[in-house]
Amino acid sequence: MSVVALTSAHGAPGVTTTAFAVASVWPEVRSGRRVLLIDADPAGSGLVSGPLRAGIADAAGVSVLAAARLPLSGERVIGCCVALDPGGARMVLPGIADPRQARPLGPTWAALVDVARDLSAGGVDVLVDVGRLGHRWEPTAWLAAADLLAVVVRGELASVLPATAAVRALTPQRQGGSAPVGVVVDPGPYTSADIASALGVGEVLAVVHDVRVARALMEGGSGGWIDRSALMRSARSLVRRVAELVPDVDPVVAR
Ligand SMILES: Nc1ncnc2c1ncn2[C@@H]1O[C@H](COP(=O)(O)OP(=O)(O)OP(=O)(O)O)[C@@H](O)[C@H]1O
Ligand SMILES: [Mg+2]
Repeated sequence: MSVVALTSAHGAPGVTTTAFAVASVWPEVRSGRRVLLIDADPAGSGLVSGPLRAGIADAAGVSVLAAARLPLSGERVIGCCVALDPGGARMVLPGIADPRQARPLGPTWAALVDVARDLSAGGVDVLVDVGRLGHRWEPTAWLAAADLLAVVVRGELASVLPATAAVRALTPQRQGGSAPVGVVVDPGPYTSADIASALGVGEVLAVVHDVRVARALMEGGSGGWIDRSALMRSARSLVRRVAELVPDVDPVVAR
């Protein structure tokens, strides 16, 4: 496993919630591996105002890395993360709360792509919340370099049509990388196969729609009924499928 980026084309289909749900269950499914969720939404973080709202240390976040001298190291990046559990099996690199801070981040994202490969080779898988496509300061480095790019949609035309155009536009940017996959939150009247065919992707993975669980998770809830919910079970299935689609980085080849 290496770098998995999640994005969307229109509206707020659930990129951040899906990314956070997937990160929450990642080490449990991929035993022996840790996960780092990078919060790269240039429109402003949905995590800083969500599960991280209790407060973030001054030394944490991508802005701290941006202010540091390049090149970055894995150790330095991890030092700027928030651990979601005492062992640090699940970490978040907080993004920007204010969209005006997105502009200078391009070189930092490019440097982080290289660090992500090293981290992955060392047992830390990397998920990236890229936010909505088309932002002026879109973190293009992740779109080009992610081993797997997942375009999140809702099962309605207003969501799928712009995503179809985005999938087409993204293909040349992928520099010969794998074709994007779709992720559907609430398929509505459609099957995953319908949505895959409309999007022009080979596969669409489903995340269960559950307003109560989604809200509780993003309010920092965990354990018990959230863990046992159909939404979190679908997040676990998604991790298993993603692991099949993206093989582990060979530490020797990665060097
Ligand atoms: N699986 C889900 N089930 C039910 N509601 C969900 C689910 N995922 C997300 N939502 C809801 O959809 C809304 C948008 O979610 P989220 O912020 O994750 O979307 P986003 O695509 O990251 O949006 P943005 O582009 O604004 O960053 C929120 O109200 C959230 O609770
Ligand atoms: Mg978001």
